[in-house]
Amino acid sequence: MSSQNTTSVIILAAGQGTRMKSEIPKVLHCVAGRPMLGYAMLLARHVATTNVAVVVGHGSDKLRTYLQQEALQFEPYLVVEQTEQLGTGHAVQQAYPALTAASPPLAHQYVIMCGDTPLLTAETLSALVEYHQTERATLTLLTTHLSDPSGYGRVLRGTEGTVCRIVEDRDASPEEKQVSEINVGTYVVEAQFLETALGKLSPQNAQGEYYLTDIIEMAVKDRQKVVAWVTKDSLETTGVNNRVHLALAEKEMRRRICERLMLDGVTILDPDRVVVDHQVTVGRDTVLHPGVVLEGQTEVGECCTIRANSRLSNSVVHRGVTIQDACVLQEATVEDEAVIGPMAHLRPGTVIHGKAKVGNFVELKKTEVGENSKVNHLSYLGDTWIGRNVNVGAGTITCNYDGYRKAQTVIEDDVFIGSDVQLIAPVTIGKGALIAAGTTVTNNVPADALGISRVLQITKEGTAARRRALLDPSVLQSGQVEERPSAAPILQKEQKSS
Ligand code: UD1
Ligand code: CA
Repeated sequence: MSSQNTTSVIILAAGQGTRMKSEIPKVLHCVAGRPMLGYAMLLARHVATTNVAVVVGHGSDKLRTYLQQEALQFEPYLVVEQTEQLGTGHAVQQAYPALTAASPPLAHQYVIMCGDTPLLTAETLSALVEYHQTERATLTLLTTHLSDPSGYGRVLRGTEGTVCRIVEDRDASPEEKQVSEINVGTYVVEAQFLETALGKLSPQNAQGEYYLTDIIEMAVKDRQKVVAWVTKDSLETTGVNNRVHLALAEKEMRRRICERLMLDGVTILDPDRVVVDHQVTVGRDTVLHPGVVLEGQTEVGECCTIRANSRLSNSVVHRGVTIQDACVLQEATVEDEAVIGPMAHLRPGTVIHGKAKVGNFVELKKTEVGENSKVNHLSYLGDTWIGRNVNVGAGTITCNYDGYRKAQTVIEDDVFIGSDVQLIAPVTIGKGALIAAGTTVTNNVPADALGISRVLQITKEGTAARRRALLDPSVLQSGQVEERPSAAPILQKEQKSS
């Protein structure tokens, strides 16, 4: 792009998106985890040399909130309110004066684009702007050919192939509807012409709206140069108007993300069945099995294996980690060479240090597991700090909630906790202590001590055999199941006598 022309961008995002049938404004629907508006903003920043204006209207509070959240990526930008959505032309009529009043005010050319075209690439947009400049055109529009052009504005060309005007689908005659070249809704327009053209728009059409597309015919009539940049990638130009289009955009965006990861050295066994959000990073030589979902701000390091159907949401995984099948990680951190799962649930605030193991059916919440420690089977640990080389036996549970407050459990280095232990928080198990299986720990256990709480075992010689004999089907009459004698008396009697 040449530098002598300053470029402002106008993004149209005020429409309701009726066809989405949604409470959420259309441009806030996500594609690969990012609202469609976000893609438009990033693209705009790619070509803008000065301000970007976003025209908001329907659901504008929600749009403003989103834009503020992402302000750092998008600035500088202006938000322009279009209180009544009277069409794309009307939207630009609102944005133009706001942009000329802003500082720095002057732009030589305006790129106008829609907020509902998330697949459009920076390469295509840059090509459009460059073509506009090399052609020294007044107006350049992006077009493509579609096998099914229905719903889009059609590009009507004259006998010499020059662009004459755009007719909207709803205003098109049957012959015009046959035209396969469509208007993508992305334009580069010279400032001076735009200003005059906006003043002349009128809502004389099927929808009673101010169509931005009318400026094309105006320019032609005014003998201005109008050219079209025809892109071959028609998928890229998909305008999302309903949920079917949204799914199409989602699929294509996911495909692009997986392709980028694979070219960067990530193995993806089945890219059609792996879902990775746009912001996620994955290191080289990591292997993603089918059904893996990586969401939000997730970061996965090098040489990891993430097996089938595991979902990592806003989580950080360091190097050489194995996540077995069907795990859920939410806002969790897993350090080098740790092994998680299968079927483990790491909830927010969980940190698993190097080489630790968290196994089958273990749920951890706000819990730190030290290096080389193991929580391998059927446990719930909440608000717990675990040191190094600790073994937590199968079925261990922290009772961290008394119905009013959460309390902390501390398990120091080298502790061995037997199976089926309950730790009633707040409680601390000192370094090197041993907790016997089946213990309910209610008091702190000092370093190197044994903690045990058990009912003494009773053993009754022969009782099992006598019970078996009494209940044996051969002593029952057939069909008299309900009246068979119970073994309970024999057991009770023996209990009394022992
Ligand atoms: C528009 C074009 C059509 C093109 C298609 C490409 C017009 C008249 N038609 O049609 O030629 O083929 O895009 O996808 O421009 N918007 C506002 N304010 C409004 C109305 C719309 O900001 O008053 C915004 C919407 O939020 C949306 C964009 O403009 O982001 C396009 O509006 P939409 O209603 O989707 O236009 P289409 O019918 O798709
Ligand atoms: Ca549209």
